[in-house]
Amino acid sequence: MNILILGSGGREYSIGLAIYKENAHNLFFMPGNGATSELGENININDYNELAQWAKDNSVDLTIVGPEAPLVDGVVDIFKENDLTIFGPSAAAAQLEGSKVYMKNILKKYNIPTAAFIETTNEKEAHDFIDTMNLPIVVKADGLCAGKGVIIAQSKDEAKEAASDMLSGESFGDAGTSIVVEEFLDGYELSIFAICDGENYKVLPAAQDHKRIGDGDTGPNTGGMGAYAPTPLVNDDIYKKVEERVIKPTLEGMKQEGAPFEGVLFIGVMVVNGEPIILEYNVRFGDPECEILMPLLETPVSELFYKGATRQLDKLDIKIKKEFGVGVVIASENYPYSSSKPAEIIVDKIVDEDLAANSHISYAGVASEDGKLMATGGRVLVCVGFGSSIKEARDRAYELCGQVHFAGKKCRSDIAYQALK
Ligand code: AMP
Ligand code: GLY
Repeated sequence: MNILILGSGGREYSIGLAIYKENAHNLFFMPGNGATSELGENININDYNELAQWAKDNSVDLTIVGPEAPLVDGVVDIFKENDLTIFGPSAAAAQLEGSKVYMKNILKKYNIPTAAFIETTNEKEAHDFIDTMNLPIVVKADGLCAGKGVIIAQSKDEAKEAASDMLSGESFGDAGTSIVVEEFLDGYELSIFAICDGENYKVLPAAQDHKRIGDGDTGPNTGGMGAYAPTPLVNDDIYKKVEERVIKPTLEGMKQEGAPFEGVLFIGVMVVNGEPIILEYNVRFGDPECEILMPLLETPVSELFYKGATRQLDKLDIKIKKEFGVGVVIASENYPYSSSKPAEIIVDKIVDEDLAANSHISYAGVASEDGKLMATGGRVLVCVGFGSSIKEARDRAYELCGQVHFAGKKCRSDIAYQALK
């Protein structure tokens, strides 16, 4: 097939790498990064109508959308109007991520377990609700805020101030003029991904992300500093509850809403006393979760997404490798505070055959310049290790980290610690 992947991060690289390794397809990336050009061709067409025309002209058989923004902007709708096969939710269904108010109302309407909340555009209503709550209090801007729209307030005054700043448009502009105020859930967090075709679904092994910049989950939130899967923090009971209480009613509910869900349903779960409670939905893969899940699939990734895009998941018997994956993000010096100076990346030749066979790099914030690979800031790459235990996979991931060099590189040293306690 000719396959087009939208996005430029490590997530899109890892989808591309998995498909590249199938040795059967031509890959295109829009816009891609300085390393995806080794897997296929990077193109640069930002208008979705023009891109759909390009896809038709170039006989693209399948388009896979990585990030949320094009989904919320309706790229899937435009491609479908052009009779193209594309894997991802419509703009209507992407509201599950695009609007926290929409998401919370769907959860409530279809009795899906989530934190108690109110949604409001009114400052007084927000403050009155905050007065009735226990601490800490969670305040969320409605719209997309690049992962920054959630405040966990330790006092009522802090919660009220966050609510007022959001509602006035001061913190997040229009994305914050509607807010969700909700109870704090105390438990451990999981990322569960269901590949959906509107009707059917396939669940991937549960992963755990590490959102904070510092070891021991300290410091500010990031896009994610590392992940591993499958996590031993889930058991069959939790998977079953997630399927019965969350995935099935969501797919059924979205059909009733006239917005059947196709694509990746990313379920942010907090497990509280053994019960899975939904923190949020995203409508795409997590990054870096994707970087470890793609290589754990034995089923060809292209087939999984193609069947997902053509409502044939019931005909797919999904197979997962019986091993563990751990991904350690290497970020630039000033991440997540500010941009960093570009720096050349040098990767040592991996002489250890065992390491070479059981690890690889997924590239994200990189550019190719005069034959050199440059770190351009943010999350630069993910070192992924595999093994028959989490410890073995973790050790390989960190061994690979030691072979990667660029000025200012930094990573957490405790990825997967919750599984190894
Ligand atoms: P969200 O964008 O809704 O996933 O929120 C970002 C992060 O804030 C989540 O991954 C959680 O770590 C945390 N968070 C969000 N909502 C809650 C909640 N109700 N209770 C505890 N932590 C939360
Ligand atoms: N790793 C979490 C996310 O992609 O939102």
